[in-house]
Amino acid sequence: MSNYSEAVNEHYGPTDISARIIERLKDAGKDIGNLSRDDLSPFDEFHTGGRESTRELARFAALRPGLKLLDVGSGIGGPARTLAAEFGCEVTGVDLTEEYCRAAEMLTDKLGLASKVQFRCANALDMPFADGSFDVVWSQNTLMNIEDKSRLFQQVRRILRPGGIFAFETVLAGTTPDIHLPVFWADSPALSFLPKPSELKGQLSSAGLRETAWEDTTARSIANQRKRKGAIQRDGPPVLGLGVIVPKDVLAKIDNVLRNSEESRTMTAQAVYSV
Ligand SMILES: C[S@@+](CC[C@H](N)C(=O)[O-])C[C@H]1O[C@@H](n2cnc3c(N)ncnc32)[C@H](O)[C@@H]1O
Repeated sequence: MSNYSEAVNEHYGPTDISARIIERLKDAGKDIGNLSRDDLSPFDEFHTGGRESTRELARFAALRPGLKLLDVGSGIGGPARTLAAEFGCEVTGVDLTEEYCRAAEMLTDKLGLASKVQFRCANALDMPFADGSFDVVWSQNTLMNIEDKSRLFQQVRRILRPGGIFAFETVLAGTTPDIHLPVFWADSPALSFLPKPSELKGQLSSAGLRETAWEDTTARSIANQRKRKGAIQRDGPPVLGLGVIVPKDVLAKIDNVLRNSEESRTMTAQAVYSV
């Protein structure tokens, strides 16, 4: 494993994530032999806005049944399952964190979706897929971990078929310098790479990807984060929340992500690009 790969694995999967998920689901009284996607939704979509945000991006990208879609940084597979179950896509997820890949496969199997959704554990900078093999490349809250975005976007372009699209959401640098750490994607600056929107747009364009839609989602994201923090202040941390898959400092991360947005240290966007 490279140093980068080790750092990503140590950040997201320092412990047995699958065992942790099963244990918490049992604590919450869920029937492990009869799980539904709704049972997992409080923690299996690891980005601001959760499943609703996935649906918004899917509508933004006009996804339709039968499209072959690659989810880059697929985590424990919540978005991939949503895109297969609700939008009829044929989904492959790729992720660098071995514990997340194992959990993604385990949950997808338990939900009976393994024929529509599969996972590969690999670095998105070196994707093990043939040229032109996907209609859609998709990515939610993963670009922040990737320093060499130009290389990532060249890979995205390579694996998209002519006319294919790249749909993503990400956190970007805001107008105030520096961010409060830890956040969900990094405990230190070594794993956090936030370009300004203009820089990201330049890198996409240099890779031959053309903007078809761009939406600043910062206000929506702040509203979602305030709702999450308010619920924790009122009821305490939930048994089933992001703490299931974030073993360390989850409350500090929730606080810092909100402060960073409120202080304009970060912003968020959803976008669709085409080849
Ligand atoms: C914040 S999580 C988001 C997971 C998922 N997209 C979701 O929304 O539920 C970021 C994910 O990116 C993955 N990741 C980071 N760098 C990566 C890389 N170079 N290649 C593949 N996956 C990567 C991490 O392992 C982690 O699962």
